[in-house]
Amino acid sequence: MVSPSSLTKLVFLACFVLFTFSDKLVAEESDKVQLYLYYESLCPGCQMFIVDDLVKFFDSDLETITDVKLVPFGNAKVSDNMTVTCQHGEEECKLNAFEACAIKILTKPKSQYTFIRCVENNTEHFQQECFQGFRDEKDVNDCYNSDLSKKLILENAKQTMSLKPKHVFVPWVTLNGKPLYDKLDDLVSQVCNTYKGKAPLPKQCNPSALSEKKTTSKLQFSYANGAIKY
Ligand SMILES: *[C@@H]1O[C@H](CO)[C@@H](O)[C@H](O)[C@H]1NC(C)=O
Ligand SMILES: *[C@@H]1O[C@H](CO)[C@@H](O)[C@H](O)[C@H]1NC(C)=O
Repeated sequence: MVSPSSLTKLVFLACFVLFTFSDKLVAEESDKVQLYLYYESLCPGCQMFIVDDLVKFFDSDLETITDVKLVPFGNAKVSDNMTVTCQHGEEECKLNAFEACAIKILTKPKSQYTFIRCVENNTEHFQQECFQGFRDEKDVNDCYNSDLSKKLILENAKQTMSLKPKHVFVPWVTLNGKPLYDKLDDLVSQVCNTYKGKAPLPKQCNPSALSEKKTTSKLQFSYANGAIKY
């Protein structure tokens, strides 16, 4: 039996909870800037971009306005018999598939990124470097050793090959579907400018923060037609 006074308390509590959550200054999922990265695991520019640049979106409040999605496939090709060929050889195909599995299993963008960053920073020794205390190792390996990894790569192939306009090189970044081409050195300000949601802009978007934070080194792009340019 609920007494009138406890009912009143309950109503107050409900209002309080509602108010608190609606007031929470976090961007609506749909408002976030969709930052998609199309890449391949062994392209040096992709590795550098993932390890050194993309980290800004996970170690700061930029996370509240950005939705990062990683799509490993890049300049790989799928032949008529569904065989995948990668720009940097068979090893790259294996790593792409492995990373596609990690992305599938680790559903949270930050967990995905943290793991992929470790792999991209240690592509030769990632088993030693990235598996310590990694609880999902078995699931990721099971996925990798099953047909699921192939399926995931073919999905990534489809996404990559249906880009409009087509990607020309990797790393290839789109913001809300629009390619940034080689304008990756002011990525943070472009994300800030693209954001039209209700949440206050993170302090990383302040002009003073933007002027000091530029990419330190020039990225090397791996072209879909095989060339490498700086
Ligand atoms: C698939 O096609 C490629 C060339 O298009 C060929 O090199 C390869 O041997 C074929 N693989 C199978 C399993 O048929
Ligand atoms: C990348 O790997 C090197 C050597 O394993 C390590 O010293 C460095 O801290 C790593 N960097 C990042 C960002 O994980």
